[in-house]
Amino acid sequence: MEYFDRHQGGERAILVNVHVNMLQDLDVEEFQLLAKSAGADILENLTAQRQRPDPKLFIGSGKAEEIAQAVQLLEADLVIFDHALSPAQERNLEKIMKCRVIDRTGLILDIFAQRARTHEGKLQVELAQLEHLSTRLVRGWTHLERQKGGIGLRGPGESQLETDRRLLRIRMGQLKDKLEKVRQTRIQGRASRQKAAIPTVSLVGYTNAGKSTLFNLLANSEVYAADQLFATLDPTLRRLDWEGVGPLVLADTVGFVRDLPHSLVESFKATLEETLEATLLLHVIDSNSPEIMEQIDAVEYVLKEIGADIPTLRVYNKIDQSGEAAKIIYAKENVPDRVYVSAHTGEGLDELKRAVQESLVGQLQPYQLLLKPAYGKLKTQLYQLHVVQHEDYDDEGNLLLDVLIAPHQLEQIIRQLHLPLHDILGQHATQFERRLEEFEAPSP
Ligand code: GTP
Repeated sequence: MEYFDRHQGGERAILVNVHVNMLQDLDVEEFQLLAKSAGADILENLTAQRQRPDPKLFIGSGKAEEIAQAVQLLEADLVIFDHALSPAQERNLEKIMKCRVIDRTGLILDIFAQRARTHEGKLQVELAQLEHLSTRLVRGWTHLERQKGGIGLRGPGESQLETDRRLLRIRMGQLKDKLEKVRQTRIQGRASRQKAAIPTVSLVGYTNAGKSTLFNLLANSEVYAADQLFATLDPTLRRLDWEGVGPLVLADTVGFVRDLPHSLVESFKATLEETLEATLLLHVIDSNSPEIMEQIDAVEYVLKEIGADIPTLRVYNKIDQSGEAAKIIYAKENVPDRVYVSAHTGEGLDELKRAVQESLVGQLQPYQLLLKPAYGKLKTQLYQLHVVQHEDYDDEGNLLLDVLIAPHQLEQIIRQLHLPLHDILGQHATQFERRLEEFEAPSP
């Protein structure tokens, strides 16, 4: 991020929350967590009251002076406002406080920048940062001059500011081209998954809900999880064999926050494309959060905003802390709505697996199947799906399999192998066919 003067971890910061017109709910704790996530060393948390924002400074000049004094006294080198500031307000405040001032968008961008892990994520962050910067570009304020030294870069008769603007435009153009190429590759990957009819299950949720931890548990992989916000920026994909479902792609996505700036939602739409294309969303919720309802609403709001109208299973995580029992709650018979788990202890993992299975392939039913020795392929497929509960042999050497499976799925497999349904299900065949009619399988 060579164009953007980013603060490093451990930066000495003063946080400012402004109560505007007493209407806005202040969420000081979440803001602190965000700032800590960016690596800020919080020296002080100041609050202010305002009837309406001041156009020049956002806050009153008296308050600005007070903060400036605190900056001097505490030797702070950064002031972070929990609001969106206009470029002019940021500059005016910087003049008074004699240190760097950033707003909520700047802070979130910084966190995104630190967390971006894939090539695409990094490109997206840089682009979003440049867009944020380009509206704030004024002579003497940006830090472009320092790095380029001017030689060979300055066009004839161009002022410093014009040069900066031109460089930014060029860089942004390059980034957009690169992003488009990466996007094409991703689209191709997704298309081939869709062709192979592999469902995608996408983990979404408020930041810090435990998505990465759950992803690790499920994928048994080494995705970076930390007690910080936005440990996940890029959708991380894993191909898994899910019990009773078969192959599926599990996607971990960026954590949502309340008041995510709209420009960011736009620039991260590509990152969220995996979410938009998912067959099923697992909405991971910190069941222990004091703000659980607000967080659920915030996530649902963003999902609506990006147009993700997809079947969703709510996963109430961290039950080891909240003390709830591992369980599935059904919306109606056999349609799971919520499941209670702990990604830390693994409690509820079986319930989660089952709920996902039911959500993807429909209601599960126990059947006893009779497989003639020639039906070895069916046996293999059922074992691959992990739906076999018990096996036995009858006197004639036929295999008896107790399975727990969705009727539609069983029918599909048997038909694909061109095997006679009645042979395999015996006296239960009629009952089985009735069930097929009764229950519409959810469309994957
Ligand atoms: P972002 O990437 O910021 O969106 O976060 P995330 O939703 O991916 O959360 P992450 O998996 O990084 O977990 C956040 C914190 O919660 C970490 O400190 C985890 O160790 C902790 N955590 C996750 N699951 C559980 C759980 O089941 N129980 C407890 N007690 N802590 C958990």
